This record gives sequence, C-alpha cells and structure tokens, in this order.
Amino acid sequence: MAKPITKAVLPVAGLGTRFLPATKVLPKEMLPIVDMPLIQYAIDEALEAGIDSVMLVTGRGKSIIEDHFDYSHELEQILRRNNKEEELEVVRGFPAAGHLAYTRQQQPLGLGHAVWCARQFVANEPFAVLLPDDLVKATPGCLKQMISAYEQVGGNLVASVEVDPDQTNRYGILDVASDNGSLVEANGIIEKPSPEDSPSTLSVIGRYILQPEIFSYLDRQKKGAQNEIQLTDAIAATLPDVSLHGFLFEGVRFDCGTKAGFVLANIAFALDRKELGLELKQAIRKLMVSK
Ligand code: G1P
Repeated sequence: MAKPITKAVLPVAGLGTRFLPATKVLPKEMLPIVDMPLIQYAIDEALEAGIDSVMLVTGRGKSIIEDHFDYSHELEQILRRNNKEEELEVVRGFPAAGHLAYTRQQQPLGLGHAVWCARQFVANEPFAVLLPDDLVKATPGCLKQMISAYEQVGGNLVASVEVDPDQTNRYGILDVASDNGSLVEANGIIEKPSPEDSPSTLSVIGRYILQPEIFSYLDRQKKGAQNEIQLTDAIAATLPDVSLHGFLFEGVRFDCGTKAGFVLANIAFALDRKELGLELKQAIRKLMVSK
C-alpha cells in the first residue's frame, strides 16, 4: 500500500508582478476571493485531504501571511466583546501551532528550487505540492480526489486539465502514453512548450503528489524554461524510475495567476454564496445588457 500523504508544500515566494500595484505591499496569495485570501483556500483544501503538516516556502515581504495564520488578540477581544461569534470563528480558522511551518526561498530561482527548499521538512515521504494561484472549486477538493487516485497508481501524480492549443506555452504539458478516463499515464512532461512543439493539450495545474526521490534530481537540476529551475524538468528526469500520471479531477479550476482567472474565480465563488448569489446574478445580467 502507498504511504499516506500527510505533508504539503506551498510555494508562496513569487512576486506577483501581474497584479501590481495591488501586490506592491500585499503578497499575491493574500488577494481575496470574495472574503478569504487565496492562501487560505489552499490550506483548507490540504487539511480536508488529511494533510497534517504544511510548509509554506515564503520570501521577503511575505510575513503578513504568517500573521494571517496567527491569533489576533486585539481583534478577537473586540469581536468577543461585541458578541460577534461567527466572525470570531472565521478569524480563528487556521491550523493549530506546530502544523504550519515556514522556510524562505532565499533566491528567486524558480518553482523547482522553491520545492527543493522544503526538502528537510519533507524528508523521506511522498508529499503534496499546492500552488495557491490555482484555485479549484470542487467537492471533495482536488487534493482529496487526487489522493484517492494516488492510492491506485502511486508514483508521481499531477492534476491535469485540457487547455486550448494556443495556451500550451503557459503550463507544464503531459506527453500522454495511455489514457484511462480520469487517469492518464504520461511518458513525458515539458514546461511551457510552444503550440507547435507541444506533445498534447493536457496541462498540469498546481496540484502535485510527488515521491521524495524528486529531491535528488532537484539537487542538481539545471535552469530550464524562463531561465528558472523547473519542477517539471525534475519530474521528467525521474521518469525512468518513478511513474507519472495525470489526473483529470472533477471540478473547475481558476488560474488566479491571471487577471481574468482571478476575477472569474471571484464571480464563481460569490455566485455560490447564499447572501450574495441572487443580488449578483441580477446585477451581472443588467451589466451584460448594457455592454
Ligand atoms: C507552474 C508550473 C507549470 C504549471 C503551472 C500551473 O507555472 O511550472 O508547470 O502548469 O504552474 O499553474 P507558473 O504558473 O509558475 O508559470
């Protein structure tokens, strides 16, 4: 039986230049989808999947993420005094001390390097990686679905979605060997290929289950696409030893690393809220008519 997945690594060191000026001071992971920061969606998804220890790989200017997952005594006192029970609950919804660890990616060398920074934390266990930019609306959550799939196939597993042929240069893309419905066996993976060179249109989204062997490859991984150390390249390098599957989860993914994806995620999550849905639907309809 495959070892259970209890650890997750969340790289959150990126600068978020696409969202300037909003991200001049505010980490992009703290941008809200309705009223909760992106990072908290990712942590909730990890906890729901049975993850017990999370490491955030941060960078300079990200310390308010730590503050966000801490008690705010002053705020709590005020809320308590005003009998704001619901709000109190919401501000305390984070993992207990000891379940959340932080390390810093000291140089911006790429996603592969960010994951490598968590090697001591992960040690010799299979683990999950969640990129908070990718928000998945799904029940059960994407990682929970992946863990069920992982129990069947083991090895390295990445969550995948089909993309338009002209978008392959934005993502990691799988070279598909065999297709078994929601699970696809891959015999290659390549980072951001141009549409002409892309082996398929099956892209990788920011959810991975990886074997610890990845670290010995990341140790010596050379820079790849965009002159960065790519996680994709290390996954490709392990292929002779570790199998690779793509998993087509049930749910909708929002690429919140793009403005369109971020705005759409806000609309989709807001439409689902009891207190907002109806009012918003009417307002959006009106807006569309006037466009
Ligand atoms: C990263 C990965 C890429 C993956 C994508 C998912 O790219 O390198 O393989 O498809 O996340 O969002 P980035 O978004 O950092 O450019």
